[in-house]
Amino acid sequence: MERMLKILHYPDPRLAEVSVPVTKFDQKLHKLLDEMTETMYVADGIGLAAPQVDERIRVFIIDLGDQEGQPKKKWEFINPKLSNGEGKIVFEEGCLSVPGLTEEVTRKERVTLNYQDRFGKARKLEAEGLLAVAIQHENDHLDGIVFVDRLSPIKRRLAKRKLAKQVTL
Ligand code: CO
Repeated sequence: MERMLKILHYPDPRLAEVSVPVTKFDQKLHKLLDEMTETMYVADGIGLAAPQVDERIRVFIIDLGDQEGQPKKKWEFINPKLSNGEGKIVFEEGCLSVPGLTEEVTRKERVTLNYQDRFGKARKLEAEGLLAVAIQHENDHLDGIVFVDRLSPIKRRLAKRKLAKQVTL
């Protein structure tokens, strides 16, 4: 079993920083990916981005679990680049860095993702539905954006008040 990593919680300022590309596809990266995977499974999340565990590099992982009609799969995305966003989808999102809060966020329904795997090999994925939502949510983390930042000003204020209350309880 891999070591569990500590997950930073919003509004930690480190979550608002922009992450840098990965240049070395080495043992250290593989170890981080394995530890992130373990951490995501134990925390019961469907996605986790490196900056959430205090590593400001452009890496995230996703595992949607058992989806109807689709085999379970764990994705690893290094240096992802989103393009060709199409359509609209509204999904009630949560985040391991924002425990106890879920809010509806509007995203693109379909996206194309160019990325590298853990060995540096270039890959391409056309994603839709929940996978596309998860990719956009995790990709936001690499640019210092948490889903709370995507809410309307009024909803964001209410969400922040809810979160502030939580901490003082
Ligand atoms: Co998140």
